[in-house]
Amino acid sequence: PTRKRFVAGNWKMNTTLAEAKALGAAVAKGVPSDSPVAVAVCPPFPWLLPVGEAIKGSAVALGAQDVHSEKKGAFTGEVSPAMLIECGCKYVIIGHSERRHILGESDSAINQKLHTALDEGLHVILCMGETLAERDRSLQERVFQRQVYAACAGLTDEQFGRLIIAYEPVWAIGTGKVATPEQAQEAHAFVRGKLRQLYGEKIADALPIIYGGSVTPDNTAGLMNQPDVDGALVGGASLKADSFLAIVKAAS
Ligand code: G3H
Repeated sequence: PTRKRFVAGNWKMNTTLAEAKALGAAVAKGVPSDSPVAVAVCPPFPWLLPVGEAIKGSAVALGAQDVHSEKKGAFTGEVSPAMLIECGCKYVIIGHSERRHILGESDSAINQKLHTALDEGLHVILCMGETLAERDRSLQERVFQRQVYAACAGLTDEQFGRLIIAYEPVWAIGTGKVATPEQAQEAHAFVRGKLRQLYGEKIADALPIIYGGSVTPDNTAGLMNQPDVDGALVGGASLKADSFLAIVKAAS
């Protein structure tokens, strides 16, 4: 199967407006128009429009870090998929572990968000992964199974074509403790196997599964050499254009 590589930068709740515009512009400049890797940056909500402006005409796409599960209405503080699309977003991250664990997002809430975002036309980067306590008790595969099953319930084949899964072991996020290429491959292969079992060969083979958690320019190539690792979701190292571009290059 030929899956295009995908590298996304999740800026989380970082950057000033000036930093965000400069970072967007530098990333846009550094990614060649014929890049073999699809690239996206995901700034905080208020910076979507200005960063969109900074990357306009480049090979870099815009993504948001979250979205609400309803299309519109009385949901103070929330942002709808249509709003993200109007801001120029192609992608949205859903189910990041920081939202699952700090903000208490449930599997069923994540499933609802997936449906609304995909119905409205976005591409979704669905995050999943086990905590350290779960890995210590060898529960990771049970966790992946639950997360894949719950998040993807009811999606159409066409919608699976706009889905990317990011495997992010919680113990590797922002800790400097990257998963080994073997650990990543094992997890990705398990998730792909589950997708195959639940939704068939075609969907499982086409769906990109990217890795996130302490990705740096130095550890990217080793991870990307694994057959089921199709890219990276980068946090800390996406906040500097140099390191993010080096990761994109190493993934090429
Ligand atoms: O979404 C990105 C991940 O949470 C990884 O963050 O690269 O800072 O470990 P990190």
